Amino acid sequence: MPPKKKPPVTATAFTRADYAHLVDELYQHNRRYYLDDNPEISDAEYDDLMRLLKEVEALHGDWQTSDSPSLKVGGEVRDDFAAVKHDPPMMSLDNAMNVGELRAFHDRLAKAGLKNPVYHIEPKFDGLAIDLVYENGRLTVGSTRGDGDIGEDITHNVRTVANIPLRLMLKNPPERLTIRGEVIIPLADFVRLNNRQLKENKKPFANPRNTAAGALRQKDSREAANKYLYFFPYTLARIDDSQNRFAKNLRSQTAIWSSVFTQLGFKASAYHLTGDIAVVEKYYEEMTAKRADLEYDLDGLVVKLDDTTEWENFGATTKAPRWAIALKFPARSGVTKLERVVYQVGRTGVVTPVAELTPINLGGVMVARASLHNADEIERLDLHAGDYVEVVRSGDVIPKVVAAQSERRAKTAKKIRFVKKCPSCKKPLVREDVFFRCVNPHCPEMNEAYLQFFVSKNGLDIESLGSEWVAKLYQSKVIADYADLFALKKETLLEFEGMGEILATKILQSIDARRRVPFARLLTAVGVPNVGEHVASILSEHFTTPAALAAATLDELTTIHEIGPGTAASVKAWFADKTNVARLAKLQKNGVEIIQEARAKISDIFAGKSFVFTGTLTKFTRDGAEAEVKARGGRAASSVSKKTDYVVVGSDAGSKAQKAKELGVAILTEAEFAEMLRE
Ligand code: IVH
Repeated sequence: MPPKKKPPVTATAFTRADYAHLVDELYQHNRRYYLDDNPEISDAEYDDLMRLLKEVEALHGDWQTSDSPSLKVGGEVRDDFAAVKHDPPMMSLDNAMNVGELRAFHDRLAKAGLKNPVYHIEPKFDGLAIDLVYENGRLTVGSTRGDGDIGEDITHNVRTVANIPLRLMLKNPPERLTIRGEVIIPLADFVRLNNRQLKENKKPFANPRNTAAGALRQKDSREAANKYLYFFPYTLARIDDSQNRFAKNLRSQTAIWSSVFTQLGFKASAYHLTGDIAVVEKYYEEMTAKRADLEYDLDGLVVKLDDTTEWENFGATTKAPRWAIALKFPARSGVTKLERVVYQVGRTGVVTPVAELTPINLGGVMVARASLHNADEIERLDLHAGDYVEVVRSGDVIPKVVAAQSERRAKTAKKIRFVKKCPSCKKPLVREDVFFRCVNPHCPEMNEAYLQFFVSKNGLDIESLGSEWVAKLYQSKVIADYADLFALKKETLLEFEGMGEILATKILQSIDARRRVPFARLLTAVGVPNVGEHVASILSEHFTTPAALAAATLDELTTIHEIGPGTAASVKAWFADKTNVARLAKLQKNGVEIIQEARAKISDIFAGKSFVFTGTLTKFTRDGAEAEVKARGGRAASSVSKKTDYVVVGSDAGSKAQKAKELGVAILTEAEFAEMLRE
């Protein structure tokens, strides 16, 4: 093979043939990046080639074709969007709101005589449907769905969608081809986009769907190009191919997804194939549970007959095909009445407002309370007593009030004002930043919350002592603080109604199991402000006892990598408080030994390697994951640099994942990381 022709390095030296070569080369790189997930060059090198291409196009305006990769960055401005007739029309889908309605769909197919249907289950993307027409392999028209018959020409914006090919990957393309699918914004990119908005002092976008829809209807295509739009194909609506080359692969939706789309240069999402309706149901349940962890928003699944030759037999109603159904996920938002606002005192004294609601079913879970975060949030919502409010529950996140319906409010309704006094001890609250705090060290609710945290999983993890018992012991004044736990006697416990010999023994055993406590663990459990597990473990490596840490100066603290002035100051302030020091002393007097945890070494497989964890992990806590790395000889860092070897991304990962990409650092999913630990 002759060596690959290198393009000239300056635009002025380009011939038309060189230009065509460069276009081809950029296409190859696009393919490797978007289809094969295996780029050959760095992003910076790609950008250099693109810059060169644009320089050449600036010199030779007539060379640029409608499929030049340079169109991806936008620039074309259109004043109005021409009407585009869809042929065939773009249909909608009938909905099944639950598995009962799915069964009804299945039964209808059986009644119509279909034996053993096989279903192709697809994600129901929550984005915007578009139609793409390719003539002789080139993207000529991209349009919105409109009313299904007539949509709007948004070709200039569609061209900027990174993974929509402007040219099909075929040497000898069909005369005409129409592909349909959904434009979305992946959740990680949406986070990135909103971070950018905030940095530029602009309003954040409300949700990925509306943002994608807005982007596609921009007049200036640069405004579409910078929104991280992404395309998922779902149907090959029409193919005019005089050579009939695809016939064999058009007989099933699976073949279209797994073979035809790829050949053309598109990447379909994952799908599921089954001939068993019970498996469809199971998959639906699995996906409903997993939906919060997915990389993009779905509003359900689409269940289609896999055998496309049946599609014609079943036909369609005026609006939707009979061979497919949208199996919707339960709604995660709804409107309900605000009964009242209550105020909770947390372990640091911060008072949090909580909305008590008329219970409402959101995505299969009854919701009766939602966080209102802080006083500013109440102000922002302009909340009034008795308001109807919109509540959203996403994933495992605590339900949130997102809006109040002012139009349904009585004229006399009173505005909700944040309390001035602590709801527990009635002392005046002190404003700190966006929070109001109770600063009374003897506040009962604060001290109970403090104790609850100490006992919880994130604290010392005293397993058999549940939160109701902590509350009872505290409220009956059997214990006043965490140190008292270690002086508990069985006789005292047995005096409580509902406490038996077995439970009392178990509780005392699980308290005893924590009598030798690693210093780092204790530091997190006692709740020094700004000291989470990670910081606690760093501090305990430098100062091995409470006395040593208490004696550390601000300077000594801040010279430690990852300890900033804010953290150092809160450590100093915490140890300056005599109550804290006295409690630690009482703890030791009551028979607790503070030890230095020798981390059990498992292997050396990560020797010299550094890891950064970002986003929400599901299988590990952040610290648990870091401990796994350390136990294998590796290092865990908090920010990504060129020296980072691996970045492990959980859900909702933001800028760190992006930075890793830019620096070419290896990116692992949580599952891949877990897999590495098994070696
Ligand atoms: S098929 C004739 N498949 O849902 C079939 N639609 O409710 C028509 N959608 O307008 C569409 N994911 O915007 C199909 N995997 C998928 C889909 C999907 C999302 C949207 C699409 C359509 C709407 C119908």
